[in-house]
Order: sequence, then structure tokens, then C-alpha cells
Amino acid sequence: MVDVEKFIDQAIRQIRDAAGEDKVVMALSGGVDSSVCAALAARAIGDALVPIYVDTGLMRKGETERIRSLFADTNLRVVDAGDEFFAALRGITDPEEKRKAIGERFIRVFEREAKRTGATMLLQGTIYPDRIESEGGIKSHHNVGGMPLDIEFKGVIEPLADLYKDEVRAVAGGLGLPPEIQHRMPFPGPGLAVRVLGEVTEEKIAIVREANAIVEECLVEEFRPWQCFAALLGLGTGVKGDVRLHGWIVAVRAVRSRDGMTADPLLLPYEALSRMASRITAEIPGVSRVVYDITPKPPATIEYE
Ligand code: XMP
Repeated sequence: MVDVEKFIDQAIRQIRDAAGEDKVVMALSGGVDSSVCAALAARAIGDALVPIYVDTGLMRKGETERIRSLFADTNLRVVDAGDEFFAALRGITDPEEKRKAIGERFIRVFEREAKRTGATMLLQGTIYPDRIESEGGIKSHHNVGGMPLDIEFKGVIEPLADLYKDEVRAVAGGLGLPPEIQHRMPFPGPGLAVRVLGEVTEEKIAIVREANAIVEECLVEEFRPWQCFAALLGLGTGVKGDVRLHGWIVAVRAVRSRDGMTADPLLLPYEALSRMASRITAEIPGVSRVVYDITPKPPATIEYE
């Protein structure tokens, strides 16, 4: 396990030396890796760091506000790009096509904003397992979220390159980042788009965002799942008052896992499930049915797409 205080001192020196007099840009997602990176660089080089947070419109409830307040004392740029992402996703139903459309849009938005800052260095939250995964595959040079950038930077700074995830979490604690960042569940890069089956629309994202927030409120603190979330399956028949209507079917997933490669559903008490289903149907007008997914991985994946 890494010596946290020593690591923080070394990383700050490393960032300062690598940056010199240059401006440094980074993509801040709000996950633990990029948050730790931003916090270290803010200490190292202050205003010479420009973290860019792209609000894709596919983020969790309250995420953008959380990032804004957490990094308020940095040169943070929040890019409201939701319209661009929804336009890019229109008509796409295939999961891999969705991922591609989101990844490409993200790169274009990041490039545009990075150019505007005039930064010549790129900071990345690459950790040790990312390097192993990308060996022989995607090079970690000049890329964001695994995709190549069309900008030439003078250099790339990767202060977390020798750390494992649990060490990054320990460093987050050492830097005084809030527990909700330190113990953050994994959240997929394509965001809520992979939690809506079929075409992504603003209406569906709004519903699944509310459902996700309720699931997290009901389960995270009490049951500490490795990951939990809601997904929107499709429309089914429901009844509200004495009227039969079409309502959305929400699936809830809560799993235990070590690394996401395999997973087991959490055995939740009936009362907890029932309370959660009541909240989701009562608080989200378009939802008429909630199901709990009891499938392990394999054969099911954790996400629905
Ligand atoms: P699956 O669904 O493949 O998920 O069992 C395993 C873990 O990976 C996350 N996940 C993704 N993360 N981009 C990401 O950054 C993606 O496209 C993506 N798809 C799945 C998922 O949330 C789970 O933690």
C-alpha cells in the first residue's frame, strides 16, 4: 500500500516540474481518479490547471452542481453540451453505436474547449490497471477516455500511473476529498445512456436519472453494494387510479463484485425492495412497474447495454 503523505508530496513535485510555466488541461469526470488528479494538480500549479468538465446531459442527478462546488476554487470550465449529445444520439438504438457516438462527441467537445484554453500540457488520471489493459491496444498517449485526440500536446502528465484503485481512494482521503468521491461506485463513461434500452431521449434520461437517484438513496448507505442503479426497460401496462395506462418499467440492479468481471446480485430484504419500488412509482409519474434483477454476471452483464 502506498504511503499517502509521501505520495502526495512527490506527485505535487512531479506535476510542478512537468508543467513548468505551461498551462495544463484535463478532462474531469467526477470519478475518483480524475478528481484526485485535479486536486493534486490544483495544489501543485493552482490556476495553471484548467479542469474541463463536460456535462453530457447523461450525468447523474446533482452531479454537475457537485463538481462545481467541489472544484470551485480551481479554474474549472463546465461545458453544457447536453444538446449536442442528444442530437448525436438521435435514432441510434445499437448499444455499441451509442457508445461510439458519445465517445466521439466527447472528444470533439474536449478538443474544442482545450484549444480555447491555450494549454500545452495534458493531465490524465490513468492508473496502473489502465496501463496494463491498454498495453498493445490503445496507447495512453494524447487520449481521453481511451480515444485519441487530434491535438498535439507538449507532454502528458500521469501522476497516478503506478497506483491501484484502492491506493487512489486512500490518496483521495489524504487530500481531504469528501467520502462520496472517495468511495464512489463505478459509473460508466457513456453515463445514463446505457441505462436506457433503445433510443436515448431527454424524456427517458430524465426518468432514469430520478430512478437512479432513488435507488442510490435507498441502497448505498445501508447495503454498501459494489454498484447499484436503475435502468429503463420499456413501456408496459399499468394502472393508476382506475385508469389503465402505458407506464415505464424500471429495473433495479444492485451487485457485489471485486472487479466488475463477475458479479452477484445483492440479497435485499423484502421491505427494502418494497419501499424502493413504492418511492419510484410514487415519485416518478411515468413509471408503473419496478422489477429487481436477480441475475449474476455471467450470464448477464452488470449494465443493460
Ligand atoms: P458490464 O455491463 O460490462 O460492466 O458487466 C462492468 C463494469 O463496467 C462498467 N461499464 C462501463 N464503463 N464505459 C465505462 O467507462 C462503458 O461503456 C461501460 N460499460 C459498462 C459498468 O458500469 C460496470 O461497473
